Amino acid sequence: MTLEQIISKSRSDALKIHRLDNPSGLKVLKFETPKASLVFHLQGAHVTSFIPRGASDLLWLSPMADFIPGKAIRGGIPVCWPWFGKHSNTDLPQHGFARNSLFQLLDVQATAGDGVIITLELNSSDETQVMFPYAFNLKVELTLSTSLTIKLITTNLSDRPLPLSQAIHSYLNISNIHQIKLNGLAEYSFMDQLSGKTHKETRNSITFAEETDRIYHLNNAQLLVDDSTRRIVIEQQGDNSTVVWNPWIDKSQRMSDFADDGYLEMLCIEAANTGNNLLLQPGDSYELSQTIGLEK
Ligand code: BG6
Repeated sequence: MTLEQIISKSRSDALKIHRLDNPSGLKVLKFETPKASLVFHLQGAHVTSFIPRGASDLLWLSPMADFIPGKAIRGGIPVCWPWFGKHSNTDLPQHGFARNSLFQLLDVQATAGDGVIITLELNSSDETQVMFPYAFNLKVELTLSTSLTIKLITTNLSDRPLPLSQAIHSYLNISNIHQIKLNGLAEYSFMDQLSGKTHKETRNSITFAEETDRIYHLNNAQLLVDDSTRRIVIEQQGDNSTVVWNPWIDKSQRMSDFADDGYLEMLCIEAANTGNNLLLQPGDSYELSQTIGLEK
């Protein structure tokens, strides 16, 4: 089915779908339900806005983001896949190629209670084989209700094991980095990517006063971002790590698609599989998900 056919088939009184295509050629869709609205780009299956009804956006999008085919968008929810961070071959892009690749819209299904599940997919091709010599199918499932769940479903279609690391790299929209607290990571060990050292988190509530780039080691994280005016709840499944990132002042200034003071308004909380222990056997699938919503 074409994009237009999927859109017209799924339109209903409770679900409104609009195309907001970008002048540089990016295809962008907005979904509105009685409970929330969602904007995503087909490039990267990249969500750039999630607004529960009556609230302000839970996601941060850089006002200086580039919306150009082939370039990752700064903000929203980049999908880092099939590797997280730098590749040992430095010619290959940081955080993999999925966030720069064009996905296909596969399906839109209404769910009970005015929800909707949107499925996008990326398949291996001659182009991906050059960077990642495996046959695969990656589905990104977006479940929109009062919360948003992003699920990555990777299937190994090769005849040999497929190594995978990945992250759902969510940029949360916060009032001020100096005022928020992050709960749910106490007692877990973390790798400080800035020093290369491993420590144990001692704080029940993490506050921020400097550049932060940490990989916390835990499974199925349940986190709370306590902001001055609201509390954002995050639930993850299939993860072995949670990445917490804020670039602070100097790094914000070095990034061309980031305002100098942009670091004040965002915090990345990433559901991830880091390290090299995830090996998908031929025919097997693996699911990683993150749910973001306001505390009820
Ligand atoms: C985080 C990494 O996941 O992503 C950071 O831990 C990195 O080290 C950040 O700076 C942003 O990466 P990028 O490639 O989107 O600039």
